[in-house]
Amino acid sequence: MPAFSASAPGKVILFGEHAVVYGRPAIAVPVMQVRAKAIVNMDPRSPSGLVRLLAPGVGLETSLDNLPENHPLAAVLKMAAAEMKLSHIPACTIKVTSTIPIAGGMGSGAAVSVAILRAFSASVGHPLSDEQVSRLAYEVEVIHHGTPSGIDNNVITYAKPVYFVKGRAIETLRVKQPFSLVVGDTGIQSSTSSVVNDVHTAWEADQAKYNMLFDTAGEIAAAARKAIENGSVDRLGPLMDENQAILRKMKVSSVELERLIQAAHSAGALGAKLSGAGRGGNMIALVTPEQAGGVAKAIEEAGAVRTIVTEIPKT
Ligand code: PMV
Repeated sequence: MPAFSASAPGKVILFGEHAVVYGRPAIAVPVMQVRAKAIVNMDPRSPSGLVRLLAPGVGLETSLDNLPENHPLAAVLKMAAAEMKLSHIPACTIKVTSTIPIAGGMGSGAAVSVAILRAFSASVGHPLSDEQVSRLAYEVEVIHHGTPSGIDNNVITYAKPVYFVKGRAIETLRVKQPFSLVVGDTGIQSSTSSVVNDVHTAWEADQAKYNMLFDTAGEIAAAARKAIENGSVDRLGPLMDENQAILRKMKVSSVELERLIQAAHSAGALGAKLSGAGRGGNMIALVTPEQAGGVAKAIEEAGAVRTIVTEIPKT
């Protein structure tokens, strides 16, 4: 039987993380250099009907029966089977690999879900639509993050720059002029749900202050959208710096993130900010193509465990 495989990219949030959970707009772009991949081999002759799951990167080698109901791999397969109205999950081996850092704000969980949904649905002859894939990946995120905004599953499913407002149809962005980013990984894993919960607690304690911070972040994202669509890339760097100032006030930055952001600025980056939930994970710096190598080196010397240079192409 043929093997079915599918992959999905990582992502970074350019503008509006956290505020997006509270209904403000945010912008995210795919990062094609890192990917999650799923390969499904059907095993119709398996006497036991076993569904085997292999994820060597996290040391997982087990069968579906042995996973708790709410394990992300079990949840995604069961949701896919329900969506396709399958009476049972046919015997198969599903192997998942990923080069996306885990818990680093680059959407590794959503990318794994998207890759599995596509490879598994194709292998049973019912390829799911993008709308179905994104919706089911969102439902898996709900199990783990409680209140995800939905930005990760959308940008990763559609693999295009998106302007996202919670609860609204996804809008893809027209990029008039390409731009380059250096992504720098602090190497510190950060739990999105715990940072999101902390922001919620702080918001409850001082709603006026946090609503103002969210409003400003939303205005920055809206201005950035115009700049991206008009090709005014020079506007994006200062907007990233302004967004970082807001994220600091939300108390989601960290010493390590600030060190990498400072190093990027000193090396000439046009703007820099954390990306994702914060407190660890990744930061991003806007650079000209000529600056990219020097900024990446400076970020590494300041402690990044790895850097990725990525270009957001014209669309
Ligand atoms: O850390 P990530 O990449 O999962 O991003 C979280 C982004 C938040 O805005 C903090 C949460 C969300 O659900 O949008």
